[in-house]
Amino acid sequence: MHTYEPKSFSLPALDGISEKQIDAHLGLYQGYVKHINLLREQIADLTNEDAEKYAFAIESTRRRMGFEFNGMRMHEFYFPQWEGGSTSQTTGGALEKVLVEKYGSWDGFLTHFKKVGMSRGSGWATLCWDKKGKTPHVWWTVDHELGMLADVRILLAMDMWEHAYMVDYLPVEKMKHIEAFLKNLNWGVVEARFESALS
Ligand SMILES: [Fe+2]
Repeated sequence: MHTYEPKSFSLPALDGISEKQIDAHLGLYQGYVKHINLLREQIADLTNEDAEKYAFAIESTRRRMGFEFNGMRMHEFYFPQWEGGSTSQTTGGALEKVLVEKYGSWDGFLTHFKKVGMSRGSGWATLCWDKKGKTPHVWWTVDHELGMLADVRILLAMDMWEHAYMVDYLPVEKMKHIEAFLKNLNWGVVEARFESALS
């Protein structure tokens, strides 16, 4: 059976996000990788043991796949967005053009993205490119998987679980986490994802 391995990320020192915060968060990410492997092993074990007897257990376990798999994958979108260091807060490229078209201005897009990020509860604010609809979307995913859009390309993913910022900020300071997340972004990573989504 294929086994997932945790990825490593070359993160620079971040402004407003501590090393302690990042280390704790990377540990949680590694937990998702461990658990998607475990979960798949358990489905296989239960199936081999007695698929009929354990039908409910197998089904319940399979239903957790979206949570563990996306918990792994969303963090693999998250951390690399800081790799290479912070850039100017506009992309100046093709992505900026489509976002300005949809949201009126770059600031209009950022305001909207932050607003979605302030949604209540644990989840992700994400920007994607819908290749079929030829349009960007910003949306909210509860946990890692509830409300996830199918067949879109993820361009920018902002972790809004409390674990993403509680070492540095209180829940009432959620906007500070959003500002720090954005301030440290390498928009080149996001722009490159967009270019690859177009091809
Ligand atoms: Fe996270």
